[in-house]
Amino acid sequence: MLRTHTCGELNADCAGKTVTLCGWVHGRRDHGNLIFIDVRDGYGITQVVFNPQSNAKLHAQAESLRSEFVVRVTGTVERRPTGTENPKISTGSIEVHAKALEVLNPSATPPFEIDDNIAVTEESRLKYRYLDLRRPQMQRNLRLRHKVCKLARDYFDENNFVEIETPILTKSTPEGARDYLVPSRVNVGMFYALPQSPQLFKQILMVSSFDRYFQIAKCFRDEDLRADRQPEFTQFDLEMSFVTEEDIYAICEGLMKRLFKGAIGVDLKTPFPRMKYAEAMARFGCDKPDIRFGLELCDLTEIVRNCKFKIFQEVLAKGGRVIGINAPSCGGYSRGQIDELIEFVKEYGAKGLANFRAEGGSLVSQIDKFFSAEELDAIRKAASSKDGDMIFIVADAKKVAYDAMAALRRLLGKRLNLIDEKVFSFLWVTDFPLFQYNEEEKRWESEHHPFTSVHPDDIKILESGRDLDKVRSRSYDLVINGTEIGSGSIRIHDRSLQELIFRTIGIDEEQARLRFGFLLDAFRYGAPPHGGFAFGLDRLMTFYVGCDSIRDVIAFPKTQKAFCPMTGAPSPVDTKQLNELNIKIKKA
Ligand code: AMO
Repeated sequence: MLRTHTCGELNADCAGKTVTLCGWVHGRRDHGNLIFIDVRDGYGITQVVFNPQSNAKLHAQAESLRSEFVVRVTGTVERRPTGTENPKISTGSIEVHAKALEVLNPSATPPFEIDDNIAVTEESRLKYRYLDLRRPQMQRNLRLRHKVCKLARDYFDENNFVEIETPILTKSTPEGARDYLVPSRVNVGMFYALPQSPQLFKQILMVSSFDRYFQIAKCFRDEDLRADRQPEFTQFDLEMSFVTEEDIYAICEGLMKRLFKGAIGVDLKTPFPRMKYAEAMARFGCDKPDIRFGLELCDLTEIVRNCKFKIFQEVLAKGGRVIGINAPSCGGYSRGQIDELIEFVKEYGAKGLANFRAEGGSLVSQIDKFFSAEELDAIRKAASSKDGDMIFIVADAKKVAYDAMAALRRLLGKRLNLIDEKVFSFLWVTDFPLFQYNEEEKRWESEHHPFTSVHPDDIKILESGRDLDKVRSRSYDLVINGTEIGSGSIRIHDRSLQELIFRTIGIDEEQARLRFGFLLDAFRYGAPPHGGFAFGLDRLMTFYVGCDSIRDVIAFPKTQKAFCPMTGAPSPVDTKQLNELNIKIKKA
């Protein structure tokens, strides 16, 4: 190699050695006669000193160095004079006294400094991602991601899983988002879909007797993006045959133990706690509760059923819910503070937020005259409110009330400092409903995907075709601190049950054949009972790195608008390419 050492490995034990380093000029400081150059590579920074008394020509050459020039320096390692050491960096006790300098490549002036502490817009970071990735934090993030993948591969291998790649050019998979489509040139008018997950292929691999499959799989989904969603992302995807939920929980928990220990030295306690979906909704208003803190919701619907408050009555008449939360020691909130929370819940569709102060053993509010003393007492008891607390209430359609209150709970948890940020709180959420009702299209659809098996106790309800919202599935999500990091289910391997599910969600035989015919065909030849799981690797990485956005753990992510500022993708293509595909772009 052109170097003897990296810029992160020299220390006091190396004093006296002649070394050659290669890297980028991180900074230059002129101190009297001496010139100090910090040379950086992916491993660290080493200080190099140019002394005109030792070599005037070399010193002059060092003067011409600019930020991000690529250099090769040879010199001797010396301990830094006492008092000038830098304990913050691993090489801070030494410096290299230069004897030779070679500029391997100059650099244009970079648009921003390569430093973790400077504020750069995300647009700029993504446009010049190659520079952004030189920052020490990004170097650490991606190197850790590599390590996590290696740990996972080793774990799966030790547990007899086989890594099998599945196609990227394929058919639509039913994960619920829009597909990215790829036109076929040789089959004019035909399209491939990029996989939203390897779901169908991994089930087919079970039919092929690969009873333990895994893959570090790229998935593509055209959906609204957020801090924890990218149009392409990575899963640790797995599937197993001849298993029950318990086997899958055990494999997933083992993987989490291995990764948390190996990546950040955290010992996890297993088994992880479990909670049924219905309980999660009732207590926390959402299916991925952050259980690091309490602040549980209370359903006040029955208590206020006969109250005189018109707004509540209107909501109740439409079958809505009245949900409350007790905010401890918030009785003194000002009008301004309350107004801010009202605006906050409105973002989740709630029309308002009622508030009751717990005071003198009762509740005080602008609207307390609409409630009897018994009603106020029952509200206070249901919310477990003490004097000095404040009860906030949203009355709305069930989904809106729960969404708004779950968000308010998270906000209050943060505001009131109830969250221990050092804790990783895992939770299995189980027994999800099998179906959800699509109000817009007025039909039932799968909550997870249509291959998810039914809770054995609920098959009768499914067969009756009524109360479909009560049918539970054999699906499970894994949640850490309120983030869903993975999801899976026991699948249907029985053809008649599969057909019943398709019928229930309005997929007729022809449709089923068209979309999933290959899977149904495969299932005719002896499908074993099977189930699986997929972890969102990008989301998992945010816990190891301690960042909020998955963009910080992906080398080349896209913006919120699914755009890559570095490559300019997506971009128009020339007419020749479109003609080959027989595609014409409509004028907007
Ligand atoms: P699901 O759709 O729940 O299940 O995805 C599994 C996990 O993948 C992550 N994830 C995402 N991460 C980043 N950006 C996205 N757009 C995104 N979408 C999902 C989440 C999620 O929990 N085939 C099934 C799994 C199975 O049943 O085995 C599936 O893909 O962390």
